[in-house]
Amino acid sequence: MESNYDRRSELKAFDESKAGVKGLVDAGVEKIPRIFIHEQNKQYNVDVSDSSCDSKFSIPIIDFEGIDKDVTLRDNIVNKVRDACENWGIFQVVNHGVEVTVLDEIIDRIRGFHEQDLEVRKEFYTRDFSRSFIYNTNFYFYQAPAANWRDTIYCSMAPSPPNPAELPEICRDTMIDYSNKIMKLGLTISELLSEALGLKPNHLKDMGCVEGLSLLGHYYPACPEPDLTMGLTKHRDATFLTILLQDHIGGLQVLYQNQWVDVIPIPGSLVVNVGDMMQLVSNDKFKSVFHRVLAKNVGPRISVACFFRTHNKQGSTHRIYGPIKELLSKENPPMYKDTTVKDYVSYVQSIVLDGNSGLEHFKI
Ligand code: OGA
Ligand code: NI
Repeated sequence: MESNYDRRSELKAFDESKAGVKGLVDAGVEKIPRIFIHEQNKQYNVDVSDSSCDSKFSIPIIDFEGIDKDVTLRDNIVNKVRDACENWGIFQVVNHGVEVTVLDEIIDRIRGFHEQDLEVRKEFYTRDFSRSFIYNTNFYFYQAPAANWRDTIYCSMAPSPPNPAELPEICRDTMIDYSNKIMKLGLTISELLSEALGLKPNHLKDMGCVEGLSLLGHYYPACPEPDLTMGLTKHRDATFLTILLQDHIGGLQVLYQNQWVDVIPIPGSLVVNVGDMMQLVSNDKFKSVFHRVLAKNVGPRISVACFFRTHNKQGSTHRIYGPIKELLSKENPPMYKDTTVKDYVSYVQSIVLDGNSGLEHFKI
């Protein structure tokens, strides 16, 4: 009890500094505060060392070049996407149409936000989730058994865009521009996924799977004791789809056949992963993949995650989702109960502690 009590006041003191993990690094800490220590890293001797795991596996890489020009080429891409979503739940895409300059710019601006003067970024530090722009260390800072070595900004960009005046000047225009481009790519991917499921190209779009977008700008500072903590603990995304941009540092891993496999940074690429809601509507055909980010002694590492889902005030919050009827048959009965994205996300937020997926709870 006593250590719990201490923990809570240490969390509070840290949170009230509003300086984030970046603040600790700026202060030159050589030992990480105990609120960041992940006991299981010691207990299970998890290898979170800096060296890449020399896995015999690697994440599928799919080239979108020529996707709208050549039918055979498109069919090929659909087959690759199907294979990746069924077996991995994740792939890297190259030649996706978002220019490298746009990718570089958003990374730069997210870094810029996290590295601007404390007095400026402090104004945005909050745990008030009704605010449209949120900056804090971890969303589940008080609930999770251990804090992650990471600061994050969060903003819901679509279907109702934020009032630009509420966004920090340093990343305002770039966030809007980047989101618009990712929305277009999300639409393309939703068409490929629909086709991969044997449905009409606009099926997932018409269901509203790609109408809501939230942007998360993560900042993982270099960590003096990376083996004791995590950048982001093991989880699955409570989304339909996530499109992730990572810089060159690395550290993202996915769980594949019981082994952690590195998602090796490829310049100009984007990482696409299936989320829980897509697994649910596809009736387990597509897999939502477990992933995590290691802390590293180099950095900062910047990543930008775009979450396709609508679960807050705006959009079709009350829309009911269940396994797509066209996919069901006697041999393939529904595996999941109907739910709304809002209920799904609320449930997942309530079970954050165990690092499992919320899908089990919705199984029939
Ligand atoms: C996430 C996520 C990975 C990364 O935001 O859900 O998995 O590389 N991010 O930051
Ligand atoms: Ni994730």
